[in-house]
Amino acid sequence: MYYSDEIIEEVRIKNDIVDVVSGYVRLQKKGNSYFGLCPFHNEKSPSFSVSRQKQMYYCFGCGAGGNVFTFLMEYENFTFQEALKTLADRAGVTLPEAEYSKEARERADMKATLLHINKLAAKYYYAQLRQPQGAAGLKYLKDRQLGDDMLRAFGLGYSNKYSDDLYRYLKGKGYKDDMLAKAGLISYDERQGVYDKFWNRVMFPIMDVNNRVVGFGGRVMGDAKPKYLNSPETPIFDKSRNLYGLNRARRSKKTYFLLCEGYMDVIALHQAGFDNAVASLGTALTPGHASLIKRYVNEVYLTYDSDDAGTRAALRALPILKDAGITAKIIRMEPFKDPDEFIKNLGAEAFEERILKARNGFLYSLEVLRRNYDMNSPEGKTDFMKEAATRLAGFTEEIERNNYIEAVAKEYRVGYEELKKLVVRMAVQTGMAAPARRPKSGKSKEKGKEDGILKSQKILLTWLIEDEGIFNQISKYIVPEDFSDGIFRTVAALLYEQYEAGEVNPAKIMNHFTDEEEHREVAGLFHTKIRELSTPAEREKALKETVVRVKNNSIEEAGRNWNAADLEGMQRLMKAKSDLQNLRKLHISVN
Ligand code: UTP
Ligand code: MN
Repeated sequence: MYYSDEIIEEVRIKNDIVDVVSGYVRLQKKGNSYFGLCPFHNEKSPSFSVSRQKQMYYCFGCGAGGNVFTFLMEYENFTFQEALKTLADRAGVTLPEAEYSKEARERADMKATLLHINKLAAKYYYAQLRQPQGAAGLKYLKDRQLGDDMLRAFGLGYSNKYSDDLYRYLKGKGYKDDMLAKAGLISYDERQGVYDKFWNRVMFPIMDVNNRVVGFGGRVMGDAKPKYLNSPETPIFDKSRNLYGLNRARRSKKTYFLLCEGYMDVIALHQAGFDNAVASLGTALTPGHASLIKRYVNEVYLTYDSDDAGTRAALRALPILKDAGITAKIIRMEPFKDPDEFIKNLGAEAFEERILKARNGFLYSLEVLRRNYDMNSPEGKTDFMKEAATRLAGFTEEIERNNYIEAVAKEYRVGYEELKKLVVRMAVQTGMAAPARRPKSGKSKEKGKEDGILKSQKILLTWLIEDEGIFNQISKYIVPEDFSDGIFRTVAALLYEQYEAGEVNPAKIMNHFTDEEEHREVAGLFHTKIRELSTPAEREKALKETVVRVKNNSIEEAGRNWNAADLEGMQRLMKAKSDLQNLRKLHISVN
């Protein structure tokens, strides 16, 4: 859905950033800014600042920053649209309705109905657990050492012994059989008629990232089979795209997730203080799960069951995570079965140690592979090394591959050079030699330089926002076109427009970028760390160097793209070069 700049700006203006952030962080006024403990990293003294005047926040500790939309996107892990909707609601701004086709409208209505039914069911189960008829369920959960806070946090409940009471309850609320069946809460057969899918089980509502109940898992309280009964896939429940506990884990400050197998593992981990645990609920990890994870973290610690099935599942998950760009490590639970039992027996500290000792995923997969070979015989070891080399050839990044070759050489006591040769040989033999990588832009040698230039451009943009006095001095020399094509140039153009209109408002510029990636990148542009320079002379020198660098790069760029027939272009270029000379002599006064 596309919203106009006007409505986005209206929503932003009506949500004062200090008020919104105060809902999450305790802020204290100091001078012109408000300070608090940063919600994006762990800290003891406040380095998180919010400016009412600029309507922006910035953390001097971790560099997080942006406007009120960015804050919700970062804190709640919302998309831009979600942040916009939330803040529009908060301020009572009505967003224009999307124009749906009839089918889309019906489907949206149906999903809304299913969500509503699930919510009612979850509340019903939750209430049952606290009634006399739920005593057995409550005792079961207490025996498994779950505290009241966890029961509440995960919304645990109980489906009682009557096999149609939920059905009657929901019917009483006006829902029809076909919808209840679609929600997966009732079943039907000729002999028994309509009956509840879940009965006499403790109930685990499965929530999506926005805390909406999309399905349920129900556990028997004894040894009967099946141990867990789960909601079927429905229009609102796609098992391959849902992770249990993600609604909570996404708020964790940790930069990685603990990925486990079961409901109880997640809850036990959260109870022990590991608020970053999620589970794929007994189903194999899918690329859908992996891309969901990648929205929040780049690293995952697998804490799958320590039995064979768990080991196999972990090994299968590794390449899927790798493909999604997620690094994986493996935590072993031995001698216990799963995280829940581990923590019950050894406690949180011991688990923390296991996290520290987690094994690199690739090296772990070789460790498992090794069990199939007789490493004491030369043939056995050779065969193993060949297989290892074949797998090493799968790393397409040269540096990464070499690092792994080094690690494997060391661990299995073979020569680095020999192993490297073997990797190449196996790659050729198995036909999986990686195709030459085409760098995304320009020559890769230039990459370092390119990054340096972008950094200078970022610094200049930050500076232009921080110190309004410099605009008039440098706008003679630097124009938006001097910034690299793409968001840098767009931001510069918008900023220049604002300067010319006499109203500098970086928070408004951010509205322009509604794509999450871009939005975050722009937030970064405004908050580049400028070295702490103490004297005005030092600051002036640094600023001048930056300006010269940006201009110089822009001239070089234009020179590269210059077409020999374009005389005017050449004249412009020469003029720019002489301006640059003047620029080197320029005196800029900075604050
Ligand atoms: P486990 O069998 O390892 O169970 O299945 P668990 O999580 O340790 O459960 P407890 O501790 O005995 O209560 C791992 C996950 O696989 C799914 C569930 O999501 C479970 O949490 N599963 C397992 C099912 O869906 N159905 C089953 O019958 C068993
Ligand atoms: Mn268990």
